[in-house]
Amino acid sequence: MLRSALLAAAKSPACRSLVENAPPVRPIVDRFVAGGGLDDAVRAAKELSTDRLVSLDHLGEDTTDREQAGATVSAYQALLRALGEHGLAERAEVSVKLSAVGQALPVDGEKIALDNVRQICATAAAVGTMVTVDMEDHTTTDSTLSIVRDLRVDFPSTGAVLQAYLRRTESDCAELVGPGSRIRLCKGAYDEPESVAFRDKTEVDASYVRCLRTLMAGQGYPMVATHDPRLIAIAEHLAGKAGREHADFEFQMLYGIRPEAQELLAARGHRMRVYVPYGAEWYPYFMRRLGERPANIAFFLRSLLTK
Ligand code: FDA
Repeated sequence: MLRSALLAAAKSPACRSLVENAPPVRPIVDRFVAGGGLDDAVRAAKELSTDRLVSLDHLGEDTTDREQAGATVSAYQALLRALGEHGLAERAEVSVKLSAVGQALPVDGEKIALDNVRQICATAAAVGTMVTVDMEDHTTTDSTLSIVRDLRVDFPSTGAVLQAYLRRTESDCAELVGPGSRIRLCKGAYDEPESVAFRDKTEVDASYVRCLRTLMAGQGYPMVATHDPRLIAIAEHLAGKAGREHADFEFQMLYGIRPEAQELLAARGHRMRVYVPYGAEWYPYFMRRLGERPANIAFFLRSLLTK
């Protein structure tokens, strides 16, 4: 229930203004967000890429303003050029939310998002890196997968995200296990209705394992996005059983979450990618991270009360 309340607050302008203007909030946000600008993103990518891979996310989502969507494209292109100039393109890709590049626009949203993300993919290809398309709430799943299919015609390395909490995802995994298909499997971060999603943690975890089995046995490139130690151990086991070498799959975690586990997996020879968000639009991302772990909320509330 608390998680649902926080995810509802993530969409509330009043809560947004309250949280964004609370003076003690910045140090907590800094745990999950690399900083406000391009330089912060490049600095974080440089630091992390000594032993890990990186996926950078220019924060922003749900735009209903076409100019804003265009500005997001420019921000990604500037980021990608900077990654190229700093010699980071081999170790750093970008993650893009389609709702930040126009998918939510009332007229021609899907087409505008496709045109926009295509420009980002073209710049990524020019500097020698790739794009993974994030997955948002279930109302966008069909549209997002259709856009990924279109992008893969010209940019076959484009990654897609599947969410184990959705009942449909096992069959989506089976459809997306072709050669080279980069699939990031996560549990899912939105507040979804029972009709489309498992809401019980045990059921979500069981679905995650079923999806992992399919992805590991397939011909694609699984990206195991979880901080859950049990699922990480199962992924290692299934990869071994499928005869996959370290180069044939990767683990992924979010910036600031279980960094010691990230270092450990990298030290054991695994490909370990950190998802690094940066930018001014941190509020909805931050609220989803609070919702994932009750201890984060307690920490957040305590710091509000003690300042
Ligand atoms: P779970 O929530 O069960 O957590 C397992 C353990 O990890 C916890 O016990 C705790 O130790 C630690 N942990 C997890 N979350 C934490 C937090 N916020 N703070 C502190 N500790 C935490 N979702 C989505 O819907 N669309 C997407 O595109 C993506 N993209 C994405 C990329 C990457 C690289 C990752 C790692 C995750 C996503 N997600 C996502 C988010 C994902 O769906 C999910 O909400 C979070 O990863 C939390 O789920 P876990 O699998 O970590 O398990």
